[in-house]
Amino acid sequence: MAAGLNSRDTQAFYITTPIFYVNDVPHIGHAYTEVASDVLARWHRQRGEDTWLLTGTDEHGQKILRTAVANDTSPQAWADNLVESAWKPLLKTIDIHNDDFIRTTDERHEKAVTIFLQKLYDDGHIYSGEYEGYYCVGCEEYKQPDDLMDGTGDFVGQLVCKIHGRPIEILKEKNYFFRMSAFEQKLLDLYESQPDFVQPSSVRNEITQFVKQGLADLSISRSSFDWGIKVPWDESHVVYVWFDALLNYVTAIGYGVDDAQFQRRWPAVHIVGKDIARFHAVIWPAMLMAAGLEVPRAVFGHGWLLVGGEKMSKSKLTGIAPSEITDTFGVDAFRYYFLSAITFGQDGSFSWEDLSARYQAELANGFGNLASRVIAMVTRYFDGALPDVEPDEAILAIAKRVTAAADASIDRFAINEALGSIWELVDALNLYITENEPWALAKEPATRARLEVVLATAVRGLGTLAVLLSPVLTRATEKLWQAVGGVGALDAQPIDRAWEWTGGPAVTPLDGTLFPRIETTEEAPVA
Ligand code: ME8
Ligand code: MG
Repeated sequence: MAAGLNSRDTQAFYITTPIFYVNDVPHIGHAYTEVASDVLARWHRQRGEDTWLLTGTDEHGQKILRTAVANDTSPQAWADNLVESAWKPLLKTIDIHNDDFIRTTDERHEKAVTIFLQKLYDDGHIYSGEYEGYYCVGCEEYKQPDDLMDGTGDFVGQLVCKIHGRPIEILKEKNYFFRMSAFEQKLLDLYESQPDFVQPSSVRNEITQFVKQGLADLSISRSSFDWGIKVPWDESHVVYVWFDALLNYVTAIGYGVDDAQFQRRWPAVHIVGKDIARFHAVIWPAMLMAAGLEVPRAVFGHGWLLVGGEKMSKSKLTGIAPSEITDTFGVDAFRYYFLSAITFGQDGSFSWEDLSARYQAELANGFGNLASRVIAMVTRYFDGALPDVEPDEAILAIAKRVTAAADASIDRFAINEALGSIWELVDALNLYITENEPWALAKEPATRARLEVVLATAVRGLGTLAVLLSPVLTRATEKLWQAVGGVGALDAQPIDRAWEWTGGPAVTPLDGTLFPRIETTEEAPVA
């Protein structure tokens, strides 16, 4: 294929998650980022955009090396094991439809990092110098005094990192430095001229303030250990883990190796937690500017899942495994809950009570019950043959309005607002059924025509809901699509025109209920 010819025919949408450290297994915080990114990707894909979702793992650096050593193994063996036993299975557990999975130990990555680094070196963006400072291995970052606080508990009398609550170390090294300070003004201009480059605005303000205080150059190599990519012109150094990791976003799409693929995908939208927004909104665009590449389309820093008011984390042992939730409530409930209950961009507290209550009210009673009742009535009163009549305009108008509203919300990363709009249709259909009482209409031949309109309208609404909710409720919507007689693959239905769906050849009984009652026995983790 001629390079690039086909590539801009449809809009490209390249979206990434962070690549996660493999020092430990995933918890629901990581799963949250994955699901949000996956929902955005599925939505854009279903709009017909040339979509690519990248995720993966971050495997170099001191944190991983130390974990491996503490477990009597090599960092490579440790990473291989965690990737295969925990990180790739996570994607199955929560139904992530990623297009690629990159590991920073992949040869394709290591090779392209070397190309990038050599170019920056040749172009004069890198010099050798000396640095002394506080280092947090948890963050894999040199810290400023502002980032630190006095330790408590075991760490009284020591300075600890505000994010990890663990003591920092003092490092003094002869390193290679990236002249990041040279990009200070260009970054400020970028935030100014492209206000949606960093989102939400709370993160944007924090980033702008940070850069305005002045940017120092960045130490980008280490010589005190060797678990990393070798610096091409000085093999006694390895590349700083963040410099290596950020490059995954371009190495995965062929940077330096496959120009056609790179041109087709880049630039990306990066979804990250706000803890790492600075790396993505400061260091990363500066690296790209130095290499003469386009900066990302956007960096969205979402909020934290909190436990007891604090960020849920591996290092603080407050992590909850995603399977604890999916085993009881199912994958759809997991995906729906975190995206609907938390404003995307703000922090949110997880609780089993809230999850359980929303499951029952919104999924089981609200959506699932609506689907069961409507499908059962079409089966009973019309033997599954959907009457071919015009739907009620009022419901159709709501379907049209919420489709447009949800689609616009997705463009603003307001996933919870998109779900809120879609739920207006769920509520409207429930009210419509309650008010029209199709079971009463079914009793009299005189109201048969009205019964036809009511149920045809309701089935049409359900088809629209199946399409609109398919990026989130991947499993229930598939069952519903079968039941309403949807023709063709559900994920091939144009989501921005979901309201136009007019019905299929026949309605067939639902395969069970969409959201079964959860028995909350004493063993179930609902308390
Ligand atoms: O930082 N709430 O990896 P990491 C919400 N390897 N999201 C959370 C969370 C919480 N409590 N805890 C973690 C790294 N996350 C680097 C990234 S990218 C080039 C390199 C999510 O394993 C959130 O997305 O520490 C956060 O930014 C990420 O996990 C950090 O994952
Ligand atoms: Mg972390």
